[in-house]
Amino acid sequence: KPLHFVTLLGSLRKGSLNGIVARALPELTPEGVTITPLGSIADVPLYDQDVQEQGFPAPVLAMAEQIRAADGLIIVTPEYNYSMPGGLKNALDWLSRVTPQPLAGKPVALQTASPGAIGGARAQYHLRQTLVFLDAFVLNKPEVMIGQAISKFDVEQAKLTDEPTRAYLTRQIEALAALVRQVAGNAGAEK
Ligand code: FNR
Repeated sequence: KPLHFVTLLGSLRKGSLNGIVARALPELTPEGVTITPLGSIADVPLYDQDVQEQGFPAPVLAMAEQIRAADGLIIVTPEYNYSMPGGLKNALDWLSRVTPQPLAGKPVALQTASPGAIGGARAQYHLRQTLVFLDAFVLNKPEVMIGQAISKFDVEQAKLTDEPTRAYLTRQIEALAALVRQVAGNAGAEK
């Protein structure tokens, strides 16, 4: 069965390195997998329970619906101050309040890119903690942490040029597809 994944981007910057990664993914997909982007986290207002009680903002509902319909989610994000960007956390906070909760039982892969050496690893481990509460199935390995990112991109052309990194991204997408099939197989076995 063909699989469909959606991407959630944690940076708003036009020249975002993580944005370049997210936009490269559709070219890097294995056979039988398609990938499309979710709406921008910039369209999600700051979380406010009073607003929620009057009705969820349309961009949140759209995001939730697209995640629910997808076989898996790929979060591509910078690390800010050893954690995930506030805008990404805000979008996850909204999504966590939608019922049925779209991340519950959803296979999720994480990708970070940073000009620094650690490649955003610390943000991923904070993100994993949040995704535990959301009951997502976060792919363990391979971990995509693109360090020294400037040397791996043609920033002018907005292109991810480093071949080993491109091949590694394909491997992670294959692993996410395998996790989706494993989760679906287990669900079938319980019936
Ligand atoms: C950063 N940056 C950063 N990098 C990192 O590896 N670890 C960190 O903790 C931080 N912290 C941080 C905080 C804030 C507020 C900013 C703006 C930046 C640097 C960051 O990795 C770099 O700016 C990336 O280029 C941001 O990702 P995009 O926008 O290029 O995708």
